[in-house]
Amino acid sequence: MTMLPPEIADSLVSPKAYGEWTGLLENFAWARDHAPVGLAEADGFDPFWAVTRHADILEVSRNNARFASGIRPTVLTNRDGEKLARAIQPDGHLVRSLVQMDAPDHMKYRLLTQSWFMPKNLRTIEARVREIARETVDAMLAGPREIDFARDVAAFYPLRVIMNVLGVPREDEPRMLMLTQQLFGSTDPELNRARAAITSADQAIAMLQHVIADFYGYFRALTESRRAAPRDDIATVLAQATINGQPLPDRETNDYYMIVATAGHDTTSASTAGAIMELARSPALFDRYCRPDADFAGLIDEAIRWTTPVQHFMRSATEDTVIGDQAIAAGDWLMLCYISGNRDAAAIERPDEFDPDRKPNNQIAFGYGAHVCLGQHLARMEMRILFEELLPRLTSLELTGEPARVESTFVGGLKRLPIRFAAA
Ligand code: HEM
Repeated sequence: MTMLPPEIADSLVSPKAYGEWTGLLENFAWARDHAPVGLAEADGFDPFWAVTRHADILEVSRNNARFASGIRPTVLTNRDGEKLARAIQPDGHLVRSLVQMDAPDHMKYRLLTQSWFMPKNLRTIEARVREIARETVDAMLAGPREIDFARDVAAFYPLRVIMNVLGVPREDEPRMLMLTQQLFGSTDPELNRARAAITSADQAIAMLQHVIADFYGYFRALTESRRAAPRDDIATVLAQATINGQPLPDRETNDYYMIVATAGHDTTSASTAGAIMELARSPALFDRYCRPDADFAGLIDEAIRWTTPVQHFMRSATEDTVIGDQAIAAGDWLMLCYISGNRDAAAIERPDEFDPDRKPNNQIAFGYGAHVCLGQHLARMEMRILFEELLPRLTSLELTGEPARVESTFVGGLKRLPIRFAAA
């Protein structure tokens, strides 16, 4: 059995390590070379296998029958947290969305909205997204020339888009942003509801329960309003959806909203801010992309690889099996380390360079297989439209301080990106 050294195991479960980033990348590099499927034993956590090579992450992701999502938590949770979650919901999932489902439920629920998120349908909302992008850019250019791009711009734009798609009115957006940050940033003292370091699992779960209850209350009212008066949005699709001839149960409806609302913005904010950070660092890149005819496809995928906003998902083995020469027992828990896969030189040449010209870009930031990100085309489209609207209007861009990352083991990315810009 290949064990990870204790300091590496500890860093995998430490929100601070993800905030600090550089040491974490070194730990992943060590793990890929010496223990690519390595057992992590960290205080307070059940042991789990950290899967750090690109090829092994793909292998686990494509075998959903062998590596299930619904058995143990799909996001790293400590022992006390899991116990408390099971006390609240017997299946152990405080939220049971697509991410936590396995066959046959998973595909039934995914198909309800899948075609909505495909490029063909997204073209029909492109004008709406562009309007939101233009408003965002106009507001940015009308304000001070020194801003925190992560907080002042990147956080709000994808939120507006996803709220528009869901059918949530604009005046409720700040509330949704706050709730999402409280959900994903629950370990970060600057973002969570208590605005303080969380010292016990009881405290963490109680805080999360309040956040989830707020989401439920909000989305229940939205569903009722769409049952009464349908519109052209995801809320209406969900309000009218049936599974096996029956309307969706309350919990599944609410949790569907929650996954779309929450997965849909912090992630895209993080990769948008990541791209701007690299343009601010490199005058050559800035020159190349601040033109009206620039092609942003390569920049977008590289920024998504570089930032890897979703830092891991967990899977549980359903049978005794082998992954990357390592024997895994039925019931074992595995962490898909997307950050590491995205820096694996076996799949990505010169992985420590930011290079928008990679062809192909083998990034796995959207996962792979049956659960591959439902919103990936929307995320790319949002970024492209924002860059088309913003970059040709800028004449200079520079960093004015150190960017800072969210302290979270799950959804990460920049929480601070201080920049100075000039515009024509
Ligand atoms: C699933 C990443 C944007 C909705 C996922 C997964 C990852 C991911 C890693 C899990 C894949 C797997 O288990 O194999 C990202 C990143 C984004 C992004 C990096 C932005 C850069 C979005 C957006 C939406 C979205 C804009 C909008 C709705 C979802 C949903 C799932 C998902 C619903 C669950 C799919 C399933 O389990 O079937 N995403 N995502 N994501 N994402 Fe995204």
